[in-house]
Amino acid sequence: MHAIIGGTGLNQLGNFELKEDCNLDTPYGAPSGIFQKGTLAGKDIVFLARHGQPHNIPPHKINYRANMHALMQLGVKDVVAINAVGGIHSHMPPTALAVPDQIIDYTWGRQHTIYDGSDGKLGHIDFTEPYTQSIRKGLITAARDQNIDILPCGVYAATNGPRLESAAEVMRIKQDGGDMIGMTGMPEASLAIELELNYACLAVSVNWAAGLHGLEAITMEEIREALESGIKSVEAILSQYLSTT
Ligand code: HPA
Repeated sequence: MHAIIGGTGLNQLGNFELKEDCNLDTPYGAPSGIFQKGTLAGKDIVFLARHGQPHNIPPHKINYRANMHALMQLGVKDVVAINAVGGIHSHMPPTALAVPDQIIDYTWGRQHTIYDGSDGKLGHIDFTEPYTQSIRKGLITAARDQNIDILPCGVYAATNGPRLESAAEVMRIKQDGGDMIGMTGMPEASLAIELELNYACLAVSVNWAAGLHGLEAITMEEIREALESGIKSVEAILSQYLSTT
């Protein structure tokens, strides 16, 4: 079964038929909120709003371990994560979509692993390829089937937030190879591997990253506008992807 983790702007899925709300507890505490079981494009899925419903959990306070553990408890095998990002790559203007293939983690202070030594178990997952290729390919094919432009690879840079970056920080991330910046891609991706879940990210650009197009401030208004249109493409891709998997 697939899970969809909705990010900023995707607290609810269009065309989703809700069948059951589930509350789950985990060894890591409470997840972001209820898990909605239902169908999308005729397939059984679970939906979780990462920031809670209503949207009130900031990126650095999300209980990523609980969220991913609960998905595992629900029998989920494949996870599609939706993440709003600031664009760095020239093909990532506001409303553009990408399926990243790599990650750089700049987050700090988050509960980022199930192998924290508390239960005597140690583990070192391989993270050479952070995302599951089969899901990535399915999302890229679905976008192309829907005639939606998509950047088929790229480096997701995960920052801690909740503030946006300075222009110098964006320059540094660009020099590091970052193509897009978001606040929620980690530790979700590595926890997925630790918990043996397949996982990929569908990123939607909601602004140019700071300083890339002049030094005007990034406004919540421009982010909201880009999200509204980007999310329509995200929903079309998700329906197409699920109908063919
Ligand atoms: N930086 C970090 N996270 C983001 C951004 C950004 O510019 N836009 C949306 N999420």
